[in-house]
Order: sequence, then C-alpha cells, then structure tokens
Amino acid sequence: MKIISSVKGMHDLLPKDSIIWQQVEYTIKNTLLNYGYEEIRFPIVEKTKLFNQAIGYNNLVVNKEMYNFYDRNGCSLSLRPEGTASCVRAIIKHGLLYNKQRLWYHGPMFRYEKPQMGRFRQFHQIGIEVFGYADICIDIELILLTSRIWKLLGLSKYLSLEINSLGCLKTRKKYYKELITFFQKNKLLNNIHDNIINNPMRLLEKYKTLSILKQAPLITSYLDNESYNRFLNLQKSLNNMNISYNINPYLVRGLDYYNDTVFEWTTNNLGSQNAVCGGGRYDLLVNNFNCNHSIPAIGCAIGLERLIILINKSNVLLKNKFLIDVFLVNVNNKLKNSIISLSEYLRDSIPSLKLVVDFYCSKISKYRKQAYQLKTKILVIMGDNTLLSDQLILENLINNKKEVIKKSYILSKLLLILFDNN
Ligand code: HAM
Repeated sequence: MKIISSVKGMHDLLPKDSIIWQQVEYTIKNTLLNYGYEEIRFPIVEKTKLFNQAIGYNNLVVNKEMYNFYDRNGCSLSLRPEGTASCVRAIIKHGLLYNKQRLWYHGPMFRYEKPQMGRFRQFHQIGIEVFGYADICIDIELILLTSRIWKLLGLSKYLSLEINSLGCLKTRKKYYKELITFFQKNKLLNNIHDNIINNPMRLLEKYKTLSILKQAPLITSYLDNESYNRFLNLQKSLNNMNISYNINPYLVRGLDYYNDTVFEWTTNNLGSQNAVCGGGRYDLLVNNFNCNHSIPAIGCAIGLERLIILINKSNVLLKNKFLIDVFLVNVNNKLKNSIISLSEYLRDSIPSLKLVVDFYCSKISKYRKQAYQLKTKILVIMGDNTLLSDQLILENLINNKKEVIKKSYILSKLLLILFDNN
C-alpha cells in the first residue's frame, strides 16, 4: 500500500529540530513576558467573513490564499491566514477594548501559497498585538523588543530593519490615484483590477527592479503633517536608541489594514522570502468591526520557520551541549523494579532533574553510545556483575571520569556533579 504523504507545504517537526524550536520559542516568550505582554489564544478556524472584513475583500491573501470550507451547517469557515483579525475579534467579544492591552499569541497559520524555501502552506507565527497606545513610544517599544529577541538569539548581524509610513487613509487614497496614473502613463498597467485599485503600492514591489520606478511618486511625499511628524519622530527615536534602519518607500505589507508606521525585519540569507518579522500600526481596524470605538493598535508577527532556517544557515545554532542530566540504565534483568524505584527517588529528590531510564538489559558499550546520542551528562549503570548488590557505576561524561559508588551515595554524588559550579 502506498504511504499517505503529508499535505504539500505542510511539514512534520522531528525531535532533532523541535529542540531548537523550543529554545527559540522559549527565548521569545520569555522576552515578551519580561516586557509585560500576556498570552491570548484563539481558534484556528474562524468565520470567513472575519478575514474578508479585516484584511480586505480584494486582498491577495483573502482572495487567493485562504483555505475556505463550509461546515455541515453551510457556514463558510476559514483556516486562519494570520492572527491579527482573530485577536481583534476576541478582544471585542470579551470587552477587553476598554483597557490597554499588550498581547501575544503563538500557533499555526495557513496560506495557499506556492511552497518554496521559507514559504509554506502551514507555518507558525508568534504574533504581538498592542491596543490602546497611540503614542510613537509603543512603535519604538515593539521594534526594540524584536531587536532584543534577535540579540538574544545571536541573530542581530543577520537582520536589518526596514521602515516606511503609509500615512492615514485620506493620504493613501490621494496617493493611490497618483500612483495608478503613473503606472498607466508608463504602460505598466493594462487592465485595472480590484486588487490594484485597492493597493497599487503592490506594483511598486512587483516592478521594483525597473529603472522607471525611480520616477514613481512615493507615499512619503504625500504624508500629512501628523503622519510626517510621526514618521520623523520614529526615525529620531531609533537613532537615539542606536537601532539601524533603512527607509524603504516600497515597503507595503501584504495585508490591507495598516496605517502610518510599517516595518519589517529582513535578511539576506533566505533568498526571496526575506522577511522574518513584519508589522505596523492598524488604528482603523477595530472601528472596521462596527464597534463604534476607535482604538489605536500596533502589532507584528515573527515567522518561526524563517527564523529557524536563518538560525540554521547562520550557524548560530543554539547548541546545548547537554540535554539530559542522567541516563540511568540496568544491565541485569532481575533489577527492573529497583531501577524504577531508584529513578523515582531521584526525581523526587531533584525536581528539575532531566533523567531518562532504560529498563532493558543491553550491553554497557551500547548504553554508553546511547548516552552520548542523548547528550547526557552522567551515565549511571545498575546491575553489572562486577558490582556488589548495593553498588552503582557512575560515568561522568562531562570529564570522562568513572567510579563505583555505593547506591546510598547516588543523590549526594549527582548533586555535587550537577550543581557544584566550583
Ligand atoms: P505577515 O507579514 O503576513 O504579517 O506575516 C508575518 C511573518 O510571517 C512574515 O514576516 C513571515 O516571516 C511569516 N510568513 C508569512 N507567510 C508565510 C509563509 N507562507 N510561510 C512561512 N512564513 C510566512 C502578518 O501576518 C500580520 N498579522 C502581522 C501583524 C501583526 N501586523 C500587525 N499585527
């Protein structure tokens, strides 16, 4: 029978890789916690109209990339392509709008894109959303927070910050008109479809290698005073905080809800899928949901697959030399029960102990090989026929010292090796 393969663009994560994922996720979540961000969880499936309304009916992600289906009741549902829409829906539903919120979420997103390096149909994001802060300080905080994460992961030198301002809705309408006229004049636009009218800035991305584009109008020249000053203040603050950035007037973002500040962290190490994290302000989105309430908001999302490919490619692997403290093994069939009680006694005594037990009697040489594969600090052997009944062999794989000890000394010996830093 033919083995059933996984869905194109959706991948398994094996233990050798999940260990890196866990470390990366831990670093990011811990940083978020330290900045006072709180976790929110929402469903993977939402009503299709949520994304239509939030991201835009004519948006490419909504039109071409969503996984849509009908449930048994005929309700049109979608696998979430991103988290911002669901997050806004959830905070409106639960009345969290009236207080300031710093939130994060983590999970799979789904987009029917053409798979390639760094682009998948199921991918994972850690998203960050902040509600209730209009001041530029929160834009800076978000950039500083993500910058700190790169630093902690050893990635700072591989990531550059790109910023742009998309201005307010009024500015954009005016600018889009000018841009469409420019593309028409230069015969770069034969038929205007909804997608383009909705966001002609995407054509700037598409044609960015054409020299004629140097003459295209740029949004930054159309900003009103408020947006202009905001953008200037963003740059000043980034300068003050020693955060390098490039102003990229072609930076559009793929989702339609943004205004003013938009940013992306990009890398040269990932080919064309170069954005590892992207976001911006979306001050109009809450209002879009007809809740008669304008709430300033900003957020971004980190693409975990791309981040981890970058970590692997940049050789900054978060190498953990040891993953297991003790590998406790038994080489005498009669001692199966004793080894279980010894392992539980050790777990009770040292709650943080990472201990793996093997009950089956294999050869010591095989167990030693396995201990190295598991990245173990200490191999403890029970039941070798050279030992007295109350003895154990303890092999310290950190310094390759081996000794025979009395079983009753095992706890104090382990504490000494594992926790004595002198
Ligand atoms: P986004 O730019 O569409 O923004 O996605 C954020 C990140 O998710 C990207 O920078 C990239 O690393 C990763 N990503 C996107 N699509 C794929 C894919 N097909 N395969 C692998 N990785 C991918 C958003 O999703 C917004 N919700 C971010 C945001 C939050 N804006 C405001 N708040």
